[in-house]
Amino acid sequence: MKKHTIETHLEVFDLVSELSEDIQKLMIKAHEARENAYAPYSHFKVGAALQLESGKIIQGNNQENAAFPSGLCAERVAVYQAGALFPGETIVNLAISARSLKQVLTTPIAPCGGCRQALAEYEVNQKTPIAIYFMGESGKVMKSNSVNDLLPLMFDGSSL
Ligand code: THU
Repeated sequence: MKKHTIETHLEVFDLVSELSEDIQKLMIKAHEARENAYAPYSHFKVGAALQLESGKIIQGNNQENAAFPSGLCAERVAVYQAGALFPGETIVNLAISARSLKQVLTTPIAPCGGCRQALAEYEVNQKTPIAIYFMGESGKVMKSNSVNDLLPLMFDGSSL
């Protein structure tokens, strides 16, 4: 038996104002999208904004459903929209913002495992990393330089 250690790297920004202007704008798009989330069951609103290499910004938010598993997370709404409208265009950055109607979220809210896997498909295909910035309603912002850093040992299509 051999032990294998996987390292992952994150950057933490104390304030949104420490981010570049471009990323601050992208985060504002994520906040805007978040407020339009349809989250009557969880009261937990998430917004996502993807920046494509052309500069286009694609927004998404969580869409819940009375049949709970039929709902979809903000990140997947955004990435599937990008895939549907701009197939093959490289995704450069993703900003994610979450707000709970039950408590003030001041710590970064990381994307769920299912969304990491969905994003991984696009990162693997485009062969360049997607930088992911995530936060709560206020406070620190975390940055992952790639989906790979958030999902080590990801499953990809190479063995299918
Ligand atoms: N949610 C997202 O939109 N993204 C995530 O990464 C985590 C969870 C949504 C799904 C559901 O509508 C609500 O947040 C509570 O789980």
